[in-house]
Amino acid sequence: MAQVYLNGDFLPPEAARISPWDRGFLFGDGVYEVIPVYRGRPFLGEAHLDRLHRSLAAIDLAVPAIPWQEIFPKLIGPAPRDCALYLQITRGTYATRDHRLPEVVRPTVFAFTWDLTPPPKCGVSGITREDFRWDRCDIKSIALLGNVLLRQSATEAQAQEALLFRKGWLTEGSSSNVFAVLEGKLCTPPKSRRLLSGITRALVLQLAEQAGLPCEEREIHQEELAKAEEIWITSSTREVLPLIQLDGKPVGAGQIGPWWRQMDQWFQQYKQKWLAAHD
Ligand code: PDD
Repeated sequence: MAQVYLNGDFLPPEAARISPWDRGFLFGDGVYEVIPVYRGRPFLGEAHLDRLHRSLAAIDLAVPAIPWQEIFPKLIGPAPRDCALYLQITRGTYATRDHRLPEVVRPTVFAFTWDLTPPPKCGVSGITREDFRWDRCDIKSIALLGNVLLRQSATEAQAQEALLFRKGWLTEGSSSNVFAVLEGKLCTPPKSRRLLSGITRALVLQLAEQAGLPCEEREIHQEELAKAEEIWITSSTREVLPLIQLDGKPVGAGQIGPWWRQMDQWFQQYKQKWLAAHD
């Protein structure tokens, strides 16, 4: 496996060590990012770093400037490979366990890559679940136990994602945002503290708007979603992925729909243009 980055050093993964007193380990006190890398280029890297800074500000964690532009190429390596870049910053290691925030912060900065396999070009299945996570899902927190348990419930149901609802209203997926084609409009829940403002979600909205596709950021009820013509999930590692089954029932015609085919084409075209501009 490629080297990892830990607090200024590049190390083989087995040589990387953190203290059990790290607040990330004890409290889940930290934030993270996942950036897709295509042909060696961190795709929409600036947008991801902006969101990382917003997450840091939201948890009141002031970190000295980190030279990501020097770190990324070393982690990715010289080959133009496709991978995912993971960045994590925790509030660091202190001598004791104390809920109160420390006055002097020595953050732990960790980053690594893994090979990215292209998302399947076939439809996948989803299930619906009550969203029992906290009320600050806009922060990309490393405290992901709720997301992990919800994703596991999907896995146990032989599904690829759990779509989450608060009192009947759609928020997002356990590790993705959700879009639905409803009465001839592409719809997604509006940004709020109940969902992560996805970088892929923003790009899909931008592409739809540029093409003049009718689209709307609005609340979506569970009963309405059950009648959607198409449902997609979006994330940096899964791009735009169509759901063709929800809770064991077909979504729309139970096949990949025409709206997804069009969006996937725009998405791939945008990616290629972006890569050409960043070569
Ligand atoms: N997760 N919502 C949640 C809860 C997520 O975990 C993710 C992505 C998204 C989509 O955001 P973006 O388009 O910026 O990747 C929405 C990453 C990929 C992860 O945790 O691995």
